[in-house]
Amino acid sequence: MGLNVAVQMDPIERINIRGDSTFALLLEAQARGHALAYYTPDRMAQRGNEISATVQPLSVRDALGDHFTLGEPRRVNLASFDVILMRQDPPFDLAYISATHMLERIHPGTLVVNDPAQVRNAPEKVFVTEFPDLMPPTLLTRDREEIKAFRAEHGDIVMKPLYGKGGEAVFRLTRDDLNFGSLYDLFAATFREPWVVQKFLPAVRDGDKRIILVDGEFAGAVNRVPAPDDLRSNMVRGGVPKATDLTVREREICERLGPALRERGLLFVGIDVIGDFLTEINVTSPTGIRAVKSLAGVDIAAMIWGRIEAKRKQHAIAT
Ligand SMILES: Nc1ncnc2c1ncn2[C@@H]1O[C@H](COP(=O)(O)OP(=O)(O)O)[C@@H](O)[C@H]1O
Ligand SMILES: [Mg+2]
Repeated sequence: MGLNVAVQMDPIERINIRGDSTFALLLEAQARGHALAYYTPDRMAQRGNEISATVQPLSVRDALGDHFTLGEPRRVNLASFDVILMRQDPPFDLAYISATHMLERIHPGTLVVNDPAQVRNAPEKVFVTEFPDLMPPTLLTRDREEIKAFRAEHGDIVMKPLYGKGGEAVFRLTRDDLNFGSLYDLFAATFREPWVVQKFLPAVRDGDKRIILVDGEFAGAVNRVPAPDDLRSNMVRGGVPKATDLTVREREICERLGPALRERGLLFVGIDVIGDFLTEINVTSPTGIRAVKSLAGVDIAAMIWGRIEAKRKQHAIAT
């Protein structure tokens, strides 16, 4: 069954194909005989209820410096695709939210992965607060007194932006750190939103585990160990990917989250766990599938396409 697939993503010439999960999904789609088209979000338009974009046929190769070929651009109705992969990277800002509103008009007639309305409702560090018993003690606020009280209670804390990504502006403050006042002022001047204040988890030294769930089922995991001179485990900050297994607690976390993810059409999700505590549920543009493949030999891209194809079959039968 060859599907007509479009990918909405950032400029394809800029991606690092060695680590890019979107690229892994595109390679797998092509290998399964699906036709690929490519567009960037700035090429979308809405007239009335019709959502269109200037798209280009795309073919991909796992070759550094020569990883794609694009065909002639043409304006098409996005509802003409069977599947759209929404894979633009955060920031989760109003540009991002506008794109989810447009794609919501054509889903689920066109299967948008992940469901755009649900993505909009589930920013990574907000959605996770629906599972407070799985999380470390966490406060979302920009109120100085609240943060002081939380700090007095928990000692070592981390402050990080609510809509941050890739380890941006993640700070640890020890109990006696005199920089709190200045850091507070800097956050208050930089961010308009509340931010995340969280108990510092010493287990981060052993890594921050990315666990991938496909349609609510555990699919694979990779541990990311921070560089000795950095708090942050993100691979873009020098975190080193390591093969790993799930602990009993992590299996429990997956079982708790599975139904909620399935129900919401969040088909490709990456959760982050530090020392038994869930810290993020990434639904916008999760990564990690290439690292899991190279470390554990598990092909998550194939699992994702298997689920997408099954969903398209069900849809065809139902309509
Ligand atoms: N509460 C915490 N305790 C210890 N380390 C943390 C904590 N929160 C974040 N970190 C470190 O900072 C990194 C980035 O934080 P995270 O919450 O995952 O935000 P981002 O969206 O930027 O990845 C984590 O991978 C981890 O190494
Ligand atoms: Mg993270």
